[in-house]
Amino acid sequence: MSLPSTSRLLLGPGPSPVSPRVLEALSAPQRSHLDPELVVLLDDIRARLQRVFRASPDSETLAISGTGSSGLEAVVANLTEPGRRALVIVTGYFGDRLAGVLTRYGATVDRLEGEWGRAIDPARVEQALTAKTYDLVGLVHAETSTGVCNPVPEIARLVRAHDALLIVDAVTSLGALPLEVEAWGIDACFSCSQKGLGAPSGLAPVVFSPRALARKVSCRSFYLDLDLLLDYWVRRKYHHTISAPLIYALAEALAEVEDEGLEARWARHRRVHETFVDAVAGLGLALLPPPAERLWSLNTVRVPAGADDAAVRRTLLEQDNIEIGAGLGPLAGQVFRIGLMGTGATTENVSRLVEALGRALNVSRA
Ligand SMILES: Cc1ncc(COP(=O)(O)O)c(C=O)c1O
Repeated sequence: MSLPSTSRLLLGPGPSPVSPRVLEALSAPQRSHLDPELVVLLDDIRARLQRVFRASPDSETLAISGTGSSGLEAVVANLTEPGRRALVIVTGYFGDRLAGVLTRYGATVDRLEGEWGRAIDPARVEQALTAKTYDLVGLVHAETSTGVCNPVPEIARLVRAHDALLIVDAVTSLGALPLEVEAWGIDACFSCSQKGLGAPSGLAPVVFSPRALARKVSCRSFYLDLDLLLDYWVRRKYHHTISAPLIYALAEALAEVEDEGLEARWARHRRVHETFVDAVAGLGLALLPPPAERLWSLNTVRVPAGADDAAVRRTLLEQDNIEIGAGLGPLAGQVFRIGLMGTGATTENVSRLVEALGRALNVSRA
């Protein structure tokens, strides 16, 4: 058996690189899930998540044991029961996943389909909300399959005016771009540990607003039941054996976010994204979304004519030890997905990647 021994530059759609500080936290001495030294970290994480989500003091925050998809499922499982009417805005692969999970939990789902590579037009959402009554609206803030940022504040206002609950997937936005759960009026939101926050994957931050808590259903999942999870996170009652190393890593990653300052971190992601866009333009490459709709954390770059997308990604991995991602669904073979997120969002990484990408494209065309 051999474990990886070299560090690889992770510039795909996630996971992002883990900082030395977080790596060190992972190897702190083991504690059990109810150890006094472990449970104080749960309090610390709840408080820090509330600040990072910019959520109200009356909201409930915690991290689900699982990846971003477990956060999605936890939000849905606690807010959906058969008969609930949901409108899901589908502008890419992850909007489709959200619609699918809502359907599995018994919601009657209408899909508002948008173009892959464009943000949804809020006027279309208003039309849909006026035409029919919904209990829930689902929206992906940062659509990782297309590199597009959806206009959450505008849509949140509409959803509130129509008295529905807004569920937001912030898997690729938390810690990387502006997200204001309370001020924007988001009711339930989920994310992951492994992207903007810079911890390894395995924990999924979630937040439920007071409005969402008031409309909670009787949860059919034992593992994801918010009441049982709060029994553990708040009242120290055994529910499941949470991973101590992942808790250490998330606590340290959140401390790192706050040491940098959340707004400074957003600004760094923006700056690095803009540097990246200029640098790839120098290689003759273009991004899929129009400038005003682009994510700062995840860039979808069109594969140029004549280039072999798989060969380019293989060359980057084998020659330069850099990982980038492939297109998903209808964008397979059409785009590279390049993540500059968490501690990976640096101008040095942009230079290293763009130089290597130029070489790999030349090899692929030769
Ligand atoms: C927008 C979005 N939602 C949900 C997920 C699912 O997260 P995970 O793969 O951590 O389960 C991802 C994963 O990349 C994502 O980008």
